Amino acid sequence: MAFADFQNEIYVAGLLGTQPSLPMSFAGWEERAQQALPPSVWSYVSSAAGDERTQRANVAAFERWGLVPRMFVGAADRDMSIDLLGMRLPSPVFMAPVGVIGLCTQDGHGDLATARAAARTGVPMIASTLSVDPMEQVAAEFGDTPGFFQLYTPTDRDLAASLVNRAEKAGFKGIVVTLDTWITGWRPRELNTGNFPQLRGHCLANYTCDPVFLAGLDRSPEQDPRAVALRWAQVFGNPLTWNDLPWLRSLTDLPLIVKGICHPDDARRAIDNGVDAIYCSNHGGRQANGGQPALDALCEVAAAADGLPVLFDSGIRGGSDIIKALALGATAVGIGRPYAYGAALAGADGIVHVLRSLLAEADLLMAVDGYPTLADLTPAALRPVR
Ligand SMILES: Cc1cc2nc3c(=O)[nH]c(=O)nc-3n(C[C@H](O)[C@H](O)[C@H](O)COP(=O)(O)O)c2cc1C
Repeated sequence: MAFADFQNEIYVAGLLGTQPSLPMSFAGWEERAQQALPPSVWSYVSSAAGDERTQRANVAAFERWGLVPRMFVGAADRDMSIDLLGMRLPSPVFMAPVGVIGLCTQDGHGDLATARAAARTGVPMIASTLSVDPMEQVAAEFGDTPGFFQLYTPTDRDLAASLVNRAEKAGFKGIVVTLDTWITGWRPRELNTGNFPQLRGHCLANYTCDPVFLAGLDRSPEQDPRAVALRWAQVFGNPLTWNDLPWLRSLTDLPLIVKGICHPDDARRAIDNGVDAIYCSNHGGRQANGGQPALDALCEVAAAADGLPVLFDSGIRGGSDIIKALALGATAVGIGRPYAYGAALAGADGIVHVLRSLLAEADLLMAVDGYPTLADLTPAALRPVR
């Protein structure tokens, strides 16, 4: 079934008198998520660093590019599947790691909901280090869809090794090391309410069931929950340097992907040191405010990656954004906030709805504009919008 068929399903249901229960675009998901989520979770998910201009710039950057329609192509059959790190995926889309996704569903198990949505859609989940349910339970829900584990590298190297070993044993197919968040960016909306979920003990399951982490505690997490958050704060963020990359590489034979790369020199040096893929992202503007939109970094980073896969996120709000990121050099495109809002609306069903909507729109653009394969989506397919 083509992704575009989602719209036929909806129109046919409409003929039979049933309208979709969930909104059909980002603005609707965002609005309804704000109503559905507790204020502290809404604020944490929707906010960004500083005056949040980089979050807005990430989104606005897509408006500066337009896909040129081509006619007489007859793009009746489209192929959106990709090869990523030896895996065949039905679409070039994945779910970016969202710590606190666990808190976004009504039942408080959003990590499991995300994994189930991955199983149902074939859209891989990158599971965050920060989760309500331990990675082993998350991975058990993936079905046939490959999953990736995102590592926030702790200062304790043994703990890092333990997390990566557990991810390997749990069946994850790659390790994504996030480089831009060893310290939290300045987030006024969160600072206004003194709200930081992990310091309140949320989303620390991967730590509280880890033998190395537990060995650093005097008493069990149940006996002393505050000590857990304190210990977590001590070990959470490792300000990595290039000297650490060989060690990171040595931790696993799984594909190693580095997230947060926005400069071509960083991409080249990472590749020279053995990483398997580059992940171009500015963390959705949550870390450094005032910088360039991630999309503006993509072309150069993709060129520097020299054929290695390039994952991209930051600012994807609709199917046309996916298409433009692919045209500018992304191998696969990450969805962030939109699926978190889907989780808030209807758990796994809401995430599936968001992913199917985004994929249907992207597929229909390829049909309408005459780009039947992903190989047809190159920078030459785009023109600046004046
Ligand atoms: C609430 C929230 C939590 C996030 N947590 C993580 C995380 O745990 N690890 C990580 O690498 N990135 C994390 N990110 C960043 C996302 O992976 C992704 O880079 C970002 O959401 C892309 O921006 P967009 O959502 O505006 O498209 C988080 C993003 C949000 C919105």
